[in-house]
Amino acid sequence: MSEHPGIKLLKERRSIRRFDSRLIENDVLTQIFEASRWCWSAVNRQPWKFYVIRNKELISKVAKECTTGTFAAEAPVLVALVGDVEAQPNWYVHDLSFVSLQMALAAWTFGIGTCFIGNINRERVKELLNLRKEDYLLTVLPLGYPYGEVPKPRPRKSVEELVKYLD
Ligand SMILES: Cc1cc2nc3c(=O)[nH]c(=O)nc-3n(C[C@H](O)[C@H](O)[C@H](O)COP(=O)(O)O)c2cc1C
Repeated sequence: MSEHPGIKLLKERRSIRRFDSRLIENDVLTQIFEASRWCWSAVNRQPWKFYVIRNKELISKVAKECTTGTFAAEAPVLVALVGDVEAQPNWYVHDLSFVSLQMALAAWTFGIGTCFIGNINRERVKELLNLRKEDYLLTVLPLGYPYGEVPKPRPRKSVEELVKYLD
């Protein structure tokens, strides 16, 4: 059986750490956010906000605080994923994590890459973005068209290693 195009998209997504200077069209950004809002979330609370940063100076300041992702400085767009902890105190980290992947995959359908950045000086970025003390910043996703070749896939565990049919 040939591979379903949807599956191909999931398998071919790569973390992108080098970005072209080409800007992302407004309509494309809108479609990425439109797809992101359909992500699942615990009790459908959708406890997220997407803060879009396109100002070069602010991009550069925020990227400096992305300890393991300073490459974000090259991206034309940064999206800070911010959770409303009061709205969903139990599951906000899960919900934000899911929406980060939904956004990454939606972006990839347009050939736009991103990379999850784990180590961020969260308090400093919150200050730069004027966020509330009680907001939780999960990460900042850099969005942009890949510069040069898309990286080769990192190795994956095999289906045999991962899956046990219990029937
Ligand atoms: C929770 C999480 C944290 C990550 N943190 C970083 C990071 O700080 N810097 C980075 O360059 N990549 C980071 N990554 C990207 C992973 O290294 C990458 O997803 C993995 O190597 C598989 O490669 P692929 O995404 O290209 O398939 C992170 C990914 C996840 C899910």
